[in-house]
Amino acid sequence: MKKEDIFKIGIGTWKIDCENFDNDLQALIHSYKKGENYLSLYMMYNDGEVVRQMRRFLDMVDRDKIFINANLEPYIEKIEDVEKQLDEYLEILNIEYVDSLQVHDPFVSKISLLDTYKAIEKLVEKGKVRYIGISNVNLEQLKEINDNVKIDFFEGVYNLECKTNEDIGVLDYCRENGIKFICYQPLRRNRTANRNYPLLVELAEKYNKTQNQIILNWIINEKGIMPLIKSTNIERIDKNIDSIDFKMEQSDYEKLNEFRSKEFDSVEIDWHDNGGVLIDALPNQFD
Ligand SMILES: NC(=O)c1ccc[n+]([C@@H]2O[C@H](COP(=O)([O-])OP(=O)(O)OC[C@H]3O[C@@H](n4cnc5c(N)ncnc54)[C@H](OP(=O)(O)O)[C@@H]3O)[C@@H](O)[C@H]2O)c1
Repeated sequence: MKKEDIFKIGIGTWKIDCENFDNDLQALIHSYKKGENYLSLYMMYNDGEVVRQMRRFLDMVDRDKIFINANLEPYIEKIEDVEKQLDEYLEILNIEYVDSLQVHDPFVSKISLLDTYKAIEKLVEKGKVRYIGISNVNLEQLKEINDNVKIDFFEGVYNLECKTNEDIGVLDYCRENGIKFICYQPLRRNRTANRNYPLLVELAEKYNKTQNQIILNWIINEKGIMPLIKSTNIERIDKNIDSIDFKMEQSDYEKLNEFRSKEFDSVEIDWHDNGGVLIDALPNQFD
């Protein structure tokens, strides 16, 4: 599948219910039928059980119509582990290639990030990977990798309260370099809406939408970002999809653009193992 054919919302899989998977499977099929076609997979979720269960989902859909993103686990000890990790996904899922492969956390690997990416590039040459992604790196790291290995996707946190990736220039760099920005925790697992910020309450009332729909509409239509959302509740899947096709006044988008959270802004991010909070933990710092 081509990058251009990806739906505006991606399917997240953190906390898929592996013990009662039948219900979640129905919900995943529902999202697929509604057009959602980007699936994010990570072997670290539930000790690989999410990926193993997902084989059932992939058996039910058209391989050419689903974009599979796989994440490498951290602690890469040696270069051969990159292909070994990918092969595990291919074998479990009974597929020939993944659409994109990315390093999930650059913090703890034994080999350098650049060497890892050179190894991923070889997997593209072998036909096992179509596109290359990257996640949770800062601007300096992103530039270093993208100057050497063409990056097509960046996955990072972005939501109403956590705008670090915009503040440090990653969002602009992605726009300028044809890298598709995908955000995780767009709804901060519903905690943003639970705070009932007056701006969200006002806009939800004005447009007759939910607060989460206001957030998603702004992320997709104003920021040009693809949110990765985990939902295995059919009503919420529909609500999330219904957030794409309405328009707000530009002045309202501006208010959302300008919104700042003093709390989240005060968190120091640990980019170089020098204290602070890792970027993927930022959205979980406060309820
Ligand atoms: N690269 C990284 O470091 C990284 C980090 C975190 C996450 N991720 C990926 O990004 C995906 C999305 O992030 P996330 O799952 O942490 O957060 P999220 O998508 O913001 O929130 C998911 C949670 O919110 C609920 N939800 C979904 N839509 C809702 C709605 N319209 N109203 C109210 N509640 C709603 C879901 O429950 P129901 O299922 O019951 O609807 C689920 O509990 C993950 O699943 C994972 O694949 C990547």
